[in-house]
Amino acid sequence: MTLIEEVIKNKKTTQKPIWIMRQAGRYLPEFRRIRKLNPDFIKLCLNENLSSKITLQPLKRFNLDAAIIFSDILMLPYGLNQSVVFKKNFGPLLGDINLNQMLKVKEDDFTKKLSPIYKAINSVSRNNLLVNKNTIGFVGAPWTLLVYMINKYSPKNKLKNSFFEDQSLIDEILLIIDKFLKEHIKNQIKNGADLIQIFDSWAGLLDEKNLTKYVYDPTSNLVNYIKKLNVPVICFPRGIKNYKNYCEKVKPDVISIDYEVNPLLIKKQIKIPIQGGLDPKILLTDKENLKKQTLKYLKIFKDVPYIFNLGHGVLPETKPEMVEYLVNLVKDF
Ligand code: CP3
Repeated sequence: MTLIEEVIKNKKTTQKPIWIMRQAGRYLPEFRRIRKLNPDFIKLCLNENLSSKITLQPLKRFNLDAAIIFSDILMLPYGLNQSVVFKKNFGPLLGDINLNQMLKVKEDDFTKKLSPIYKAINSVSRNNLLVNKNTIGFVGAPWTLLVYMINKYSPKNKLKNSFFEDQSLIDEILLIIDKFLKEHIKNQIKNGADLIQIFDSWAGLLDEKNLTKYVYDPTSNLVNYIKKLNVPVICFPRGIKNYKNYCEKVKPDVISIDYEVNPLLIKKQIKIPIQGGLDPKILLTDKENLKKQTLKYLKIFKDVPYIFNLGHGVLPETKPEMVEYLVNLVKDF
């Protein structure tokens, strides 16, 4: 059993595993070198050799407990033939939805279009660097994917007023998302993903009254599906106000907390394994401060099952040296 599985299944508390959201990415010069030669981000995600290589880059440097496959949550709308491009200094930009065309997409065509991702998972999971470590597959949560597919770019702090205007379109899209998320998850697991994380990056945009329809119901449906495939599932509902309610409704195996969550309070409220929390901005300060803040989380979660991670993705300006220092702090604790 891997250390992460010991924490999830056996509720082990004596050693804390660590992996880092966006651990394969722009803070690594070896990633930037590949990225510079590959300006089309989607094409890069669909290049199985390069995406495998990028996935393993952080594992070559640091003593991490898992690899997360180098891909993106927006590969799902891409697989459904909605156009997706990543614009420099802007982020993702999606094209219009053609519902009739999207309704005609078959599972086999979707799987074929995204097959380099599954091949990369297959090769990464067999790599020697991953002996006794996890290969994390991931998806965007239904709500976060709906946000991107309808809004077409990152919404920052607020949805457009017109977001909920076309309810029948929203309901049709949610059905399509559910069907193909399951396909995407199944394919990742079949090829060696042994842990799934669901990213709900925009959960914090919804009012309490909309959470059941857009977050709790569709996510718990997906969580049940993953559990039936015998793979543990981590949920990261970034910015949600009530993590306790979320856990009761969605029932993930692990809950990943964002950096605004009070770790002491969450420890009292939630009885399942917890992941994450440390503000990624701390890695932009100095080692002394990083040590202080890291030890804070390690001490608070000392007697409960806890997977070390950040409260959101590692920032591109982070020095790899700080990540190394962090990983060693956790490993030496
Ligand atoms: O290392 C890993 O964590 C695995 C790879 C991964 C990426 N995206 C690669 C990526 C994962 C797990 C994601 C998830 C993802 N993608 C989320 C959920 C997590 C979160 O950040 O809230 C979201 C919302 C997206 C959509 C997305 N992809 C955005 C908004 C952006 C642009 C923002 C930015 O940082 O520039 C991306 C691009 C992206 N995805 C990059 C990487 C490494 C940067 C691309 C580049 O090199 O220019």
